[in-house]
Amino acid sequence: MQSTDCRFFFQNTPSLLHASNTRPGMSTLNVEHVSKEFPTRHEPLRVLRDVSIELRDGENLAILGPSGSGKSTLLHILGTLDRPTQGAVRFNDQDPFALDEAQLAAFRNRQIGFVFQDHHLLPQCTVLENVLIPTLAFGTTTDEQLDRARRLIDRVGLSQRLDHRPAELSGGERQRVAIARALVLRPQLLLADEPTGNLDHTTAAAVADLLLELQAEEHTMMIVVTHSLALAARLDQRRQLDDGCLVNAQETTPSAGKSEHS
Ligand SMILES: Nc1ncnc2c1ncn2[C@@H]1O[C@H](COP(=O)(O)OP(=O)(O)OP(=O)(O)O)[C@@H](O)[C@H]1O
Ligand SMILES: [Mg+2]
Repeated sequence: MQSTDCRFFFQNTPSLLHASNTRPGMSTLNVEHVSKEFPTRHEPLRVLRDVSIELRDGENLAILGPSGSGKSTLLHILGTLDRPTQGAVRFNDQDPFALDEAQLAAFRNRQIGFVFQDHHLLPQCTVLENVLIPTLAFGTTTDEQLDRARRLIDRVGLSQRLDHRPAELSGGERQRVAIARALVLRPQLLLADEPTGNLDHTTAAAVADLLLELQAEEHTMMIVVTHSLALAARLDQRRQLDDGCLVNAQETTPSAGKSEHS
């Protein structure tokens, strides 16, 4: 991609799918006995073992675990960016991995919002354009999508910064843009991988506030991977990857805070 002008993206993207801007009905996520192995020159590296998760609209879950325990691997599978070696992932009882590649990409864009540790904003695009990136798959951005993007930017407190580029924003402000972008198409599932990992304590707390408020307002499902017990303590359920198995974090992190609902 040679162009440094963000308009390039908005003028050259084919229409991949059409969908309404409302999310019909109840959403469910079922992860059933998922295992993941990576091939190596010797024995396969077994990262996830028999992982199962159930989540419904409005529910959230924190996943803890030491570095290398498989948190991002699991999130990639939930985000349909990678496939399980064994087991199944179902959204509303449907297997997204049964879709062909183009359909799967469209499904991912439409139904899953991602927030990463690094915001992954496009540096040449403004705040408004960055939030509109997921709408590119529709070919044109509708007035309704534009209105929604503006409302979300207002909601994350950046309505005065619509024309600013990421380099002109603080780390916390960039992460606010990333949250707005993740929600612009009203996804069924919000996935966050260390969303506050690059932020100082105060900014991290403010970004966590916003993430949780918006998840509640949007009534979406949310899974947050984090090393932060403070962030994990604010979610409804906490689980921990332990030797590839997903166990209740209560067993290993009794100081995590809130009572468990799982
Ligand atoms: N594509 C891959 N091929 C081979 N091994 C991989 C691949 N992706 C991840 N791994 C290995 O899987 C294990 C889990 O990695 P993962 O990135 O999921 O850990 P993590 O819990 O997210 O760690 P961190 O907290 O440091 O981000 C690591 O040992 C890693 O080296
Ligand atoms: Mg990781």
